[in-house]
Amino acid sequence: MQVIQDPKLLRMAIRDIKQQGQQVSFIPTMGNLHQGHLTLVKEGQQHADVSVVSIFVNPLQFNNANDLANYPKTLEEDCAKLQQAGVDIVFTPSAEVIYPNGLNAQTFVEVPGVSDCLEGELRPGHFRGVSTIVAKLFNLVQPDVACFGEKDFQQLCVIKQMVTDLAMPINIISVATVREPSGLAMSSRNGKLSADEKLIAPKIAEVMNQLGQQLPHNWGSYKQLIKDAGQTLDQSGFKTDKIHVVDPVTLAPLTADSKQAVVLMAAFLGETRLIDNLVVDLH
Ligand code: PAJ
Repeated sequence: MQVIQDPKLLRMAIRDIKQQGQQVSFIPTMGNLHQGHLTLVKEGQQHADVSVVSIFVNPLQFNNANDLANYPKTLEEDCAKLQQAGVDIVFTPSAEVIYPNGLNAQTFVEVPGVSDCLEGELRPGHFRGVSTIVAKLFNLVQPDVACFGEKDFQQLCVIKQMVTDLAMPINIISVATVREPSGLAMSSRNGKLSADEKLIAPKIAEVMNQLGQQLPHNWGSYKQLIKDAGQTLDQSGFKTDKIHVVDPVTLAPLTADSKQAVVLMAAFLGETRLIDNLVVDLH
């Protein structure tokens, strides 16, 4: 496994791979890898000859300097896991190399609509940071296939829209959320939970699944179901941040014609904000 920091060296390696007619899979990450990330890696490997993973904690997508500074950095362990998983190239650029002019770059990639609602409303500029870095990494890695987790549902919608709108020749594969045996969605943030909070955390998935089961039959009263779910979470020790039920493609409010819905949940457990989501067939 090659660990490459310099984009020029990465370009040379990619050029050689392409010259041999090989296909490239790509998994962008911010490190602190867990089984969720490794499942994306495995999926990518099934679609291409060479697998590339990036580890880059992208300052452009953080709204809070503290969150950025405290983001867990575990490069050595991450590389050991990727080596074990049979990854060919790990790209670990520095922020200086990616943003040589600081964060006031002149070119950004914006995907309004799917970026501005929901999480985007709460975290202004977040998805602009995500779409910009992913577009830049796509330019460097030139993958044939790239995998993203459904865990970050809105991010997946933003990337799919960007690739379509900019005619990027990349097959975007979505991967189902990988969960702990308790049902809790795997996340780098779970490491911040106290022992007591860890016992409560799976409740978010439980409440979400209950809401998902009730939705198809009680679709007319989904606002009440959302309210009830929030109350159940709050009574269990969470502080519900938001629960939305929207169209899974446009993220717009449901209409009478909607065939599917996505339940998007975010709730605080202590200081930690947990998110989860579920796609539900309505008819
Ligand atoms: P990061 O949070 O490291 O996640 C990298 C990828 O792993 C994302 O596609 C995310 O959806 C996926 N992932 C995380 N937890 C998962 C789980 N439990 N099951 C399945 N997939 C999971 O998302 C980012 O980094 C960044 O925004 C990035 C796309 C790298 C741009 O900076």
